[in-house]
Amino acid sequence: MPSVNIIPRPTLVASASNVLHLDADTTIGAPEAEHPAAVLLAAYLRGPTGWTVPVQVGAGSIQLLRDGSRAQDFGAEGYQLDATPDGVCIVAGEDAGLFWGVQSLRQLLPAAIEARTTVTGVDWTIPTVHIEDRPRFSWRGGHLDVSRHFFDIDFVKGFIDLLALHKQNVFHWHLTDDHGWRLQIERYPELTHESASYTQAEARSVVAYAAARGITVVPEIELPGHALAVLAAYPEFACAEGPFHAATEWGVFDDVFCVGNDATLAFLRHVFDEVLEIFPSRFIHVGGDECPKTRWQQCPKCQARIQQEGLANEDALQSWTIRQFDKYLADRGRRLVGWDEILEGGLAPGATVMSWRGVEGGLEAARAGHDVVMTPQTHVYLDRKHYEGDDEPGRLSVSSLENCYGFDPTIADMTITEAQHVLGVQANVWSEGFDTPAGAEVMIWPRMSAVAEIGWTAQADRNFADFTGRFRHLAQRLDVMGVAYYRDRAVWG
Ligand code: ACM
Ligand code: ZN
Repeated sequence: MPSVNIIPRPTLVASASNVLHLDADTTIGAPEAEHPAAVLLAAYLRGPTGWTVPVQVGAGSIQLLRDGSRAQDFGAEGYQLDATPDGVCIVAGEDAGLFWGVQSLRQLLPAAIEARTTVTGVDWTIPTVHIEDRPRFSWRGGHLDVSRHFFDIDFVKGFIDLLALHKQNVFHWHLTDDHGWRLQIERYPELTHESASYTQAEARSVVAYAAARGITVVPEIELPGHALAVLAAYPEFACAEGPFHAATEWGVFDDVFCVGNDATLAFLRHVFDEVLEIFPSRFIHVGGDECPKTRWQQCPKCQARIQQEGLANEDALQSWTIRQFDKYLADRGRRLVGWDEILEGGLAPGATVMSWRGVEGGLEAARAGHDVVMTPQTHVYLDRKHYEGDDEPGRLSVSSLENCYGFDPTIADMTITEAQHVLGVQANVWSEGFDTPAGAEVMIWPRMSAVAEIGWTAQADRNFADFTGRFRHLAQRLDVMGVAYYRDRAVWG
């Protein structure tokens, strides 16, 4: 009898000691033609089985039902899945829940379902189960830095499909930094003239690929720091005289955007004008981290801005800059999100804070009534080593799988109201320390699986030993996909 080993662990699983055999007559019944979750499920099934798996409106042997009258029971993303010897029924209040029900069904199927080509001799059997499931948090993110090292569109899409497998619903795409600007901007062709980058058509294809899996792409355009790649192409947006060069070492650099210069702000608005056309996400990330103030202290334009706007100091100038973009985004129906340094000098009215230097920034923002996403480097920075050791992959510090899994985004001394401002949790994958797909993957897996469970599963239902047991099964899927992972001693002994 196949066992149930879903990651993230569902709210409730009741298994009967029976099985359902799927065969070439399998059909998918969907709420409407071309329903995205049904189309996705059909694609998952067709390749490895070689079956036709038609999607039809109405009844099917795998039934997807959207029942708005039960939206209260399920929440925006919950679902119920029943598998009996006769078929499968997934019901949800909204489409998001159907996507996640499909991912649970995928994890109930044999690992061979992850094959890219048809596999023969597989018994396509799933255990009979009753699952009720809904997420703890609404922001369950995975971030990827494509500036320090560039990752091609195929890798990005593969990463997104793995996020979907884990019911992660946000892909945070760190598109710009000192080392390279990675998104084509039509008005400023020099930004991507010299470095590998994505065309707007490619970026749109990533947005569509993610949307077809229930995932929102949140783009990040860094300001006012981490700007060397821009200044290399457009030195007029710096405080000091150029020339500048895209960074060739890791670190934080003094040359940042001159925000005393109106032309710099116009440049950034023009960039965002194009970014908003490509990315429909309500949240837009503007960076805000690690901006040294040394150039601003010396710059007549920046000092004049401080004077004119009646700002107390350079921290207030950073805050003023973020507020300009908070308003710009709010005027266009979007919401600003930034790293926790956006607290310095005062938080912009609509800002959501991504707490990375620890959880304190998140706590402070939640106390001030702002939404926060918890992403502390102490736990969920996946560029860190898994264990101490010179031969271990990773850099800067250590966050073991168990340490990562142990993070609770709701900090112990938060009030209920403060805790309600915690949108969720996100793992960040900074790419200074690796430059190949496999190099990235051994940093990401299994720790991203742990973060997915933090975001989805109720705290009381989480158990590390139980998680590692389920990850051993999930690893078989990664093997079939050809995805590398760290062979953690906490999982395999
Ligand atoms: C960051 O890690 N600088 C957000
Ligand atoms: Zn300046």
